[in-house]
Amino acid sequence: MTDQTRRTFLKQTALGTAAVLAYPPSKVLGANDRVRVGMIGVGDRGNDLLGQVKSASNVEIVAMADVFSRRRDHAKGRVPDIQTFDDHRRLLDMKDIDGVIVASPLHTHARHFVDTLAAGKDLYAEKTMTWSIPEAEKCLAAATSSGRVVQIGLQYQSSGSLTDAKQWIRDGWVGKVTQVESWMSRNTPHGKGQWVREVPADCTADNVNWSAFLNGRPDRPFDAFKLINWRLFWEFSGGNCAENMVHQMAWIMSALALPEPSAVYTSGGVFSEKDGREVPDTIAGTLDFPKDIVVTWQSTFSNKHYGLGDRILGSDGTFEHHFDEALEYWPEKTNRSDRELTKGRTHDQDHMKNWVECIRSRDTPNAPAEIGYRSAIAVHMANLSYRSKKRITLEEAKAFTPEFS
Ligand SMILES: NC(=O)c1ccc[n+]([C@@H]2O[C@H](COP(=O)([O-])OP(=O)(O)OC[C@H]3O[C@@H](n4cnc5c(N)ncnc54)[C@H](O)[C@@H]3O)[C@@H](O)[C@H]2O)c1
Repeated sequence: MTDQTRRTFLKQTALGTAAVLAYPPSKVLGANDRVRVGMIGVGDRGNDLLGQVKSASNVEIVAMADVFSRRRDHAKGRVPDIQTFDDHRRLLDMKDIDGVIVASPLHTHARHFVDTLAAGKDLYAEKTMTWSIPEAEKCLAAATSSGRVVQIGLQYQSSGSLTDAKQWIRDGWVGKVTQVESWMSRNTPHGKGQWVREVPADCTADNVNWSAFLNGRPDRPFDAFKLINWRLFWEFSGGNCAENMVHQMAWIMSALALPEPSAVYTSGGVFSEKDGREVPDTIAGTLDFPKDIVVTWQSTFSNKHYGLGDRILGSDGTFEHHFDEALEYWPEKTNRSDRELTKGRTHDQDHMKNWVECIRSRDTPNAPAEIGYRSAIAVHMANLSYRSKKRITLEEAKAFTPEFS
């Protein structure tokens, strides 16, 4: 054995041991026990989630970690007794935390995901599950072997419309589905770019743990604009496919029980928001699925007339689906003269409360890592196709080595 191979062997052995020890047994909580929660990344979405978890019964928020002091001060204003950290590892060192909510930027998701599970905590992880496909593989494997309760922030997995869609499909109402159309559109006043956020005056190098934000991206001087507007840049973001397509794709994939796409072609560009951003504002994507189904998704940031929705087109009927509204079923009279227009009645479940209940019951929540994984693969295939300007198959996407992995 050469020194090099011995070092590699020792390293692997150490990693192997760490992997065995990585998931200590979870504390067993009774149905009435208080759930103690920590949060990593409490910016815009983190503050929404903080409100949601605060309203779940018998939950205590005990700590939060954020790289920016302003966010920590703000969270302390909302939950005065919490401990705050600028490094998520200090929060994960706390023994008396049962579950951790992660709402950090996309390029840090995988680190926070894996570290949280390795620390023996249950996890609520914002979508998109990861920034890349290798990270998605790693996170799925960690979730599977950890035995932890993992909920991905794909809240439409808890929607009544999804329950209705699955039931009506099982009951044969739509017949054979070969095509799904989906779209997402927004607009902003002239001169104001979608997603662009103002940089607060106190967003300075002294107030930010910049290297924790960079998370292994090439080192560089502090850049407040990128910290606040990470969504606009590929190093940190997955653009609108990661921000919004993922919700719609996860809903469609769950309703129709679809595996990952077999191939994706995406076109578009930075056409309306000429403000230095890298990620496209206009996207038209075609996703092929193995079960003879093609799904199209298109998005624009300069016209919101048609809002957001999808249509599942079957030989016996159509689902018209607008998020946050009841699902509609329109029969194809050619094949289903017996049926009428039907509106779904199933209520949404509270996605956050579903996670908290599962921490106590150890049941699988509504959006486990598996749907996080499948929807992340669709997102990354769409972005790989967009960036390479060619159709990408699943095999090509999985063989691709991203710039940061
Ligand atoms: N499920 C949904 O409907 C939904 C809606 C909005 C956003 N999101 C997701 O939530 C996530 C956060 O989005 P946002 O709009 O709140 O972003 P944001 O920039 O407002 O918040 C991110 C926070 O994380 C902090 N942060 C950055 N790096 C960190 C690190 N290494 N450790 C700890 N904290 C760190 C930042 O200081 C900031 O406070 C994204 O993944 C986004 O896609 C989900």
